[in-house]
Amino acid sequence: MSASVKNVVIFGATGMTGLVTLPQAVAAGYNVTVLVRDPAKLPSDHKASRVVVGDVLNKQDVKNAMEGQDAVIIILGTRNDLSPTTMMTEGTKNIVEAMKERGIRKVVACMSVFLLWDRSMVPPRMIPVTEDHDGMYQVLKSSGLDYVAVMPPHIADNFPLTEKYTVLENVTRGKAISKYDLGHFFVRCLSSDEWNHKAVWLYGEYS
Ligand SMILES: NC(=O)c1ccc[n+]([C@@H]2O[C@H](COP(=O)([O-])OP(=O)(O)OC[C@H]3O[C@@H](n4cnc5c(N)ncnc54)[C@H](OP(=O)(O)O)[C@@H]3O)[C@@H](O)[C@H]2O)c1
Repeated sequence: MSASVKNVVIFGATGMTGLVTLPQAVAAGYNVTVLVRDPAKLPSDHKASRVVVGDVLNKQDVKNAMEGQDAVIIILGTRNDLSPTTMMTEGTKNIVEAMKERGIRKVVACMSVFLLWDRSMVPPRMIPVTEDHDGMYQVLKSSGLDYVAVMPPHIADNFPLTEKYTVLENVTRGKAISKYDLGHFFVRCLSSDEWNHKAVWLYGEYS
């Protein structure tokens, strides 16, 4: 655990990757707050220190969640809904605003490998979500905060935690990252400045 980061808030803790990031952050020794729309989506034995019920699009909910925090992990997403959205961009704006108000500097955020591709190569059905990820990335890049922009390839539900993934900057290779290894990386970023202000891509070898 980082000496300077003890308290972390996760946005998107009830999602595929969020659900496996929360226990890893707790196991690493962090006090974890989550902002969730529906607390029933958290496992009954979750070890979050604080559950704030709210919506990332509501500024006051985001401010409430930010109370007492040292760092932020954003794993927002739209599940199987690929229709046009600005939820991640607008939510990230609210998060950045609340971070600045509280003097919180570190934010680790999940976007997608498609931001590292020429847009003409992105499958058309993925364009709307990619544009929202891009909006989020622009907000983070211009924030002046210590952001890590994580651009995963396919997030695999059925691959294990290996902790042996490869992290690259602005380069893509490999095809997938396990959701557990992705969560592991988010938590690892809390105790390292190595990837601050960078767009990073990561993949694992799973047999
Ligand atoms: N799947 C892939 O292979 C893949 C590959 C690369 C990148 N990505 C990107 O990686 C990110 C994480 O993906 P994932 O599949 O782990 O996420 P996910 O399962 O789609 O979960 C999204 C999370 O965001 C929360 N959320 C959505 N709208 C919200 C709102 N208005 N206020 C508060 N919370 C809200 C959801 O809460 P609820 O539980 O309330 O819905 C859920 O916890 C996404 O941005 C995704 O596009 C995915």
